[in-house]
Amino acid sequence: MSTTSADAPSGDLDQLRRCLGRFATGVTVVTCADAAGGPCGITANSFSSVSLEPPLVLWSIAKVSNSLQAYLDAEYFAINVLSAEQEDISSHFARTDHTRFSGVKYSKSGKGVPILANTIACLHCRTNEVHDCGDHYIIIGEVESHVFDDNAPLLFFRGRYAQVANSE
Ligand SMILES: Cc1cc2nc3c(=O)[nH]c(=O)nc-3n(C[C@H](O)[C@H](O)[C@H](O)COP(=O)(O)O)c2cc1C
Repeated sequence: MSTTSADAPSGDLDQLRRCLGRFATGVTVVTCADAAGGPCGITANSFSSVSLEPPLVLWSIAKVSNSLQAYLDAEYFAINVLSAEQEDISSHFARTDHTRFSGVKYSKSGKGVPILANTIACLHCRTNEVHDCGDHYIIIGEVESHVFDDNAPLLFFRGRYAQVANSE
C-alpha cells in the first residue's frame, strides 16, 4: 500500500477521520417519529447490514445529536437509502434544524415513521437493541419491511459526495 501519512497514531483524530474516510459508503437518512409524533430525520452513513436470519441492520448516532432522545425512544425507524440525485436531501438532513421536513417530500408508514420519496431503498425497522459505545449509540433494528429499485446510489468518500462510475 502506498501511504499518504506515515503510521499516524490513532489518537490523531484528524488523521483517523481521514483514514476512516477511505471506506466508501452509501448515504442514508434515518427517520423516526418523536414522542409527539413529529417527523425526525438525520443523515447517516454508519448504516450496515448485520444479519439476514433474523434480518438485522445497524447504524450509530452521535451522543451530541439534538435528535438523540427521539431515536433512543423510538420503537420504529426507517433507513432511507439516497439516490445519486439526492445530495441536497443529504445536506438538508445533516443540518441542525428543527424544521427539517419543510419542503421535503415524504409519506408516513403505518407506524408513523417518515418515509422519504424517491430513495433507492427503504428498510422499515423495529428497534431491537441499543448499545452505548464511546461517543455514539449503536442502534440495531429488525427489518419488518423493505422496498428498493435499481437507480444509482449517492456515495460518500474521503469526506465528499461521489457517484458510482458504472451503476448498471
Ligand atoms: C454523509 C454524512 C454522514 C453522516 N453520518 C452520521 C452518522 O452515521 N451518525 C451521526 O450521528 N451523524 C452523522 N452525520 C452527521 C449528522 O447528519 C448531523 O450531525 C446531524 O444531522 C446534526 O443535527 P442534529 O444534532 O440535530 O441531529 C453524517 C453527516 C453526513 C454529511
